[in-house]
Amino acid sequence: MILVLLGPPGSGKGTQGALLKSKLGFEHISTGDMLRAEVAKKSHLGLKAEEYMKQGLLVPDDLIIAMIKNILSQAPHKNYVFDGFPRNVNQAEAFETMLNTMGLQVDKVFYFDLDDDVIIKRLSGRRVCPKCGATYNIYYQKPKNDTLCDNDNTPLIQRDDDKEEVIANRLRVYKEQTFPLIEYYKSKGKLFVVSANGTQEEVFEKLKSML
Ligand code: AP5
Repeated sequence: MILVLLGPPGSGKGTQGALLKSKLGFEHISTGDMLRAEVAKKSHLGLKAEEYMKQGLLVPDDLIIAMIKNILSQAPHKNYVFDGFPRNVNQAEAFETMLNTMGLQVDKVFYFDLDDDVIIKRLSGRRVCPKCGATYNIYYQKPKNDTLCDNDNTPLIQRDDDKEEVIANRLRVYKEQTFPLIEYYKSKGKLFVVSANGTQEEVFEKLKSML
């Protein structure tokens, strides 16, 4: 089964992707996490991607599509949840072509609907562990010790693109480039709207009921 999590920055795609992995065994593919790992390694791809990411812009489609092709060609027959991909109509069309050649298709697309004021609070409050990748929130999901990761006591950090000036740009890019995907998948009868309000557990229950 192939699922896509679609929604504005901070709507909970990563959180729900991690739950789909830990509770239902899906392979969680987050293009944002993969790119951040490349940036940390200072690889050729990472250095290129960083220029775009720090401004809140989309990384060029050809780089992203090559990353996804590489994953799927190695293990096409798994249950996947894609988080943050596709991000525009061009990526969605390339994804469809790629899947078709493998005899696969996107089964369901979950669109996480959330108001801008909640999005901004979730993004500005997010803290992450640079070691294990665990995500916290100073408003909604505090670590046990104010500034340290519950798993490994590493000092938590704020993502560069969660700073106020970059958040505004990410929201603008989302509305211009990603929002049209709602109509794209709706017209194919694959879109399921999930209200992303409520606790993480409540949102997960809604997702499960739609699966
Ligand atoms: P990416 O990492 O994909 O960022 P994003 O889509 O902007 O999404 P976020 O990770 O910010 O939010 P999320 O929806 O996953 O929310 P989360 O669960 O973390 O991409 C980063 C950059 O990489 C892009 O800007 C672009 O440059 C590049 N990129 C990535 N993919 C690309 C692609 N396909 N093409 C081109 N470029 C690409 O939750 C957010 C916070 O809210 C957390 O603190 C969490 O604890 C909290 N939270 C979650 N759920 C709840 C809840 N129910 N209640 C209260 N708090 C909650």
